[in-house]
Amino acid sequence: MRVVAVMNYKGGVGKTTLTANLGAVAAARGLRVLLLDLDPQTNLTFSFYSIDDWHHQLKDSNRTIKQWYEGEMPGRDISLADLVVTPERVNKVLDGTGGRVDLISSHLGLIDIDLELAARLGGATTLEASKRRFLDLHSCLRHALRDNHFTQYDLVLIDCAPNFGIVTKTAIVASEQVLVPAKADYLSTLGLDYLVGNCAELVRQFNDFVSHKGGSGDHRPIDPGILGVVFTMVQIYSQQVTSAQHAYIEEVSLNSRVPVLESWVRNSPVHFGDAGESGVPAMLRTAGRDLVVREFDQLADEVLGSLGLASGDHR
Ligand SMILES: Nc1ncnc2c1ncn2[C@@H]1O[C@H](COP(=O)(O)OP(=O)(O)OP(=O)(O)O)[C@@H](O)[C@H]1O
Ligand SMILES: [Mg+2]
Repeated sequence: MRVVAVMNYKGGVGKTTLTANLGAVAAARGLRVLLLDLDPQTNLTFSFYSIDDWHHQLKDSNRTIKQWYEGEMPGRDISLADLVVTPERVNKVLDGTGGRVDLISSHLGLIDIDLELAARLGGATTLEASKRRFLDLHSCLRHALRDNHFTQYDLVLIDCAPNFGIVTKTAIVASEQVLVPAKADYLSTLGLDYLVGNCAELVRQFNDFVSHKGGSGDHRPIDPGILGVVFTMVQIYSQQVTSAQHAYIEEVSLNSRVPVLESWVRNSPVHFGDAGESGVPAMLRTAGRDLVVREFDQLADEVLGSLGLASGDHR
C-alpha cells in the first residue's frame, strides 16, 4: 500500500481534481484505490456523491472523517475502516477492470475540529507530556492506516485542505510521498520552497521527539518524500505551453529544491470544469481517448511508476 498526500496550502490549484482523476485512472488500471477527503470543503466527496446522497448515506449516519477526528484522541472511539464507502457510479464504470475506488468522506464541521486539535496540543503540563501528545496526535492517521483492513489497497490518496493545520499534518505524517499540484504563475511558484520547508520542519520536529522517546505508542521516525510538483491548468497555445508559463515551470525546475514532474495537466474547463456532477471523474467519462486523456495517462504513468505501481508492479 502506498500512501500519498496531495497537498498545497494554496487554494484552487487543482488538488481535488487531480486526486479524483488520478484515483479513478489508477483504478481503471486495476488498482484498488482509497481516496481520503481531509478537506472540510468536501469537494472530493462531492466528486463522487451528490449532495443529497451525501446527506442521506454519509452525514446522517455519521460516516464522515469528522466523527473520527473529533474524539478525545482521533481513532480511539471509532475505527477508520468503518467510514469507508464505495461510491456506486464510478465503480459501475470500473466494472471489469479489477480496480475499485473507495472513499472516506469529509464534512464541513472538520474545520472546527482542526482548531480544537490545535488547542488540545497546547494543553499539556510537562514537556514530556507535550511531546507525547504531539506524537500521538500527529501520528493518529498513520496508525489507523496500519489496520489490516487497509492492506487490501494498492494506493491511498489523501486530498488535503489548502492549509497547514493539524489535520493536514496528520496526512503528511501518514504519507510516504507528497504530491504538490501548483499553477505555473508567480505566486504559486513562490510558495513552493516555503511549503517544502514547512514539511521538512514538521518531519524534523516529529523525528526529534521520536528520538527522545516521546509518545505512548510505537512511534517510528518518518521520512515522507516529495514526489514532485505537478503543474495544473497549464495554458496551451498552438500546441505548446505558453511562454509565460513555460518560464515559471523552468524557473522551478532549475532553481527550486522541489522536484518537478515531467507531465502536467492542461487547462481544460471542458474536461475539468464541472467537477463532480456525474459522480465519475472526467478522465473516465470522456468518450474516446482524446489528447487531454492521453496527457493525463502520461501523468498517471509517471506518478504510478515512481510509486512502483505501474502495470504489473503491484501484484
Ligand atoms: N486542469 C484544469 N482545467 C480547467 N479547470 C480546472 C482544472 N483543474 C481544476 N479545474 C477547476 O478549477 C477549480 C479548482 O480546482 P480544485 O477544486 O481541484 O482545486 P483545489 O486545489 O482542490 O482547491 P481548494 O484549495 O479549494 O481545495 C475547480 O472549479 C475545477 O473544476
Ligand atoms: Mg480541493
